[in-house]
Amino acid sequence: MARRVFSGIQPTGLVHIGNYLGAIKQWVDLQYDHECFFSIVDYHAITVPYDPKQMPKNTFDAAVVNMAAGLDPNKSTIFIQSHVPQHTELAWLLNTITPMGRLSHMTQFKEKSRMFREGINAGLFNYPILQAADILLYKATLVPVGEDQVQHIELTRDIARKFNTTFGETFPEVEPRLSEAPRIMALSDPTKKMSKSIPGSYIALTDSPEKIKEQIMKSVTDSGPQKDVPMGAGIANLFMLMQEFSPPDVYQRFRSQYDEGTIKYSELKKTLAEDIANALTPIREAAQNLAKRPDYVYDSLREGAHKAQSIAKRTMAEVKLRMGLI
Ligand code: TYM
Repeated sequence: MARRVFSGIQPTGLVHIGNYLGAIKQWVDLQYDHECFFSIVDYHAITVPYDPKQMPKNTFDAAVVNMAAGLDPNKSTIFIQSHVPQHTELAWLLNTITPMGRLSHMTQFKEKSRMFREGINAGLFNYPILQAADILLYKATLVPVGEDQVQHIELTRDIARKFNTTFGETFPEVEPRLSEAPRIMALSDPTKKMSKSIPGSYIALTDSPEKIKEQIMKSVTDSGPQKDVPMGAGIANLFMLMQEFSPPDVYQRFRSQYDEGTIKYSELKKTLAEDIANALTPIREAAQNLAKRPDYVYDSLREGAHKAQSIAKRTMAEVKLRMGLI
């Protein structure tokens, strides 16, 4: 059954293979059979310190890379969050039914407040409510994300239930959808997830083959397989990447070598780096070509916002009526 799908990505400078394997690859697959809405969520990105001069480029680049990775404006509705003002309007209304206690338990809030200790703002605290508004505005039922976002989707579900019991049945049940690789770990420290904010942790979708090789060769592993010791997080992460980027027989070969204790990590890394580079080259080239066609990109985004807004307006009218706002 075709479902309505919503997901978003922050325009924070670059898109990495964690974003790709956890989220974007699912988005590309889903757009053929479902009604999909994907947003570059700039209102979310401004909840931590950022450079306003850099923001337009970051937003444009995020759109370009997502399209280069396979998001098709003719199949999906792709738009910039701040172009559809109903997102913040609904977020305000949902603010009034969301307990502060729930927000203070959100892992992403706790992590980011540790990272940006100075000047934690109300926007960062309320961030998950805006995310709930993103999804509920379109009455989406399926949200393809990486594992780190599941907590926010659960909160969205609770907010929707609270709204329905308080004001009458309005929003459907929301479900997260995870890929086979929902949590890619940092190459430089496999106890943390791959993230734009950890230098050396990621491979960007637009990195050159040389850069990819350098990053993979530097990645943290261990001293080799040991009897009765479970596989270390670093090598498990590389095997996960190999499963995603290399042919199955190549993955199997290295897995058997690991089990037999004959594996050479340097060879695994070399093969993996080549396979990642081969998989990403078409995306990098498509991004380079799209970047030369800004009019096409901006027109697609404007059209996406227009389509999104027609649905957003309808939901807002219904929500305001239910809440007694005339
Ligand atoms: P963001 O911009 O941090 O990440 C975009 C998507 O990439 C996934 N992801 C990962 N998946 C696997 N391994 C990783 N290391 C990894 N790092 C990131 C994220 O889970 C996400 O799916 N709050 C969201 C954006 C958002 C949103 C929404 C998502 C705003 N509104 C509504 C869904 C629905 C975020 O910060 O994603």
